[in-house]
Amino acid sequence: MHLIDFINLIIQKISNLFRIRRQQVFVCIDFEELQDRLPRIPISIEDITYANVHRVTDFRDQARVASFHGFLDQVQIGVYAILDSKVVGHAWAIICRDKRIKANGYFRLCSGEALIHYCNVKPSCRGCGIYQVMLFNLCNRLFNEERLDKVYIDTEVDNNAALRGMQKVGFRPLGQYMYFQFRNRLIYKKCITYYDS
Ligand SMILES: CC(C)(COP(=O)(O)OP(=O)(O)OC[C@H]1O[C@@H](n2cnc3c(N)ncnc32)[C@H](O)[C@@H]1OP(=O)(O)O)[C@@H](O)C(=O)NCCC(=O)NCCS
Repeated sequence: MHLIDFINLIIQKISNLFRIRRQQVFVCIDFEELQDRLPRIPISIEDITYANVHRVTDFRDQARVASFHGFLDQVQIGVYAILDSKVVGHAWAIICRDKRIKANGYFRLCSGEALIHYCNVKPSCRGCGIYQVMLFNLCNRLFNEERLDKVYIDTEVDNNAALRGMQKVGFRPLGQYMYFQFRNRLIYKKCITYYDS
C-alpha cells in the first residue's frame, strides 16, 4: 500500500469515530394535544413482541431482527403498522427507567421521559399517514399505559417528511440542536435554535 493510501485510510478511520448530528427536537407533554389521524390506506397497529419480531423482514433486511431483539431486551416499546397482513412500518420508543440515561449515546432523558426513534415506513406506502398513526398509537401506550410525563421525538433538520408527520400529529417544536459524538458518546451539545412554546 502507498503511503498516501495509508494516510487516507487512517484519516477515514479517525473520521468514522466522530459523528455530528444536526437534529430538530419536538416534545409532547399532554396526550390530549395529539391528533388521532385516519390513514389513507386501511392499516392496523400491533405491538412488537418477541413472537412477531421476525416479521420486520416483510419490508426490511434480516439484520433488523437482531436490532429489534436488542430493543426488546432493553424494554423499549415498539409498534408495527400492518397492511394486508404484512408489516409496512415500525416505530420505537426508548423509555428512561432510571434516574437519567443518554438515549442513543446523545439524547438526555430523565425518569418519566421517552424518546421515539427508529421509525420507518415501506417506501411504496409513504405519504399515506402511516407514520402519523404509528406515532399516535405509540404515544397512547407511553402516556396511558407507561404513565410517562414527556415524550420527545427528533429527526435530522432536513427530513421534511418526518418533520411534517411529527407536527401534524401534534408534537411541539422544542429546538434545533447539534450533537458531537466520539465513538457514539456525546462530547458536546449545542443549541442552535430554541422555541419557547
Ligand atoms: C419519515 C417517514 C417515516 C414518514 O412516513 P410516512 O408514513 O410517509 O409519513 P406520513 O404520510 O404519516 O406523513 C408525512 C407527511 O409529510 C409529507 N411528505 C412526504 N414527503 C415529504 C417531503 N419530501 N417534503 C415535505 N413533506 C413530505 C406527506 O405528504 C405527509 O403529509 P400529509 O399528511 O399532509 O400529506 C418515512 O418517510 C420514512 O420511513 N423515511 C425513512 C426513514 C426515516 O427518515 N425515519 C426517520 C423518522 S424519525
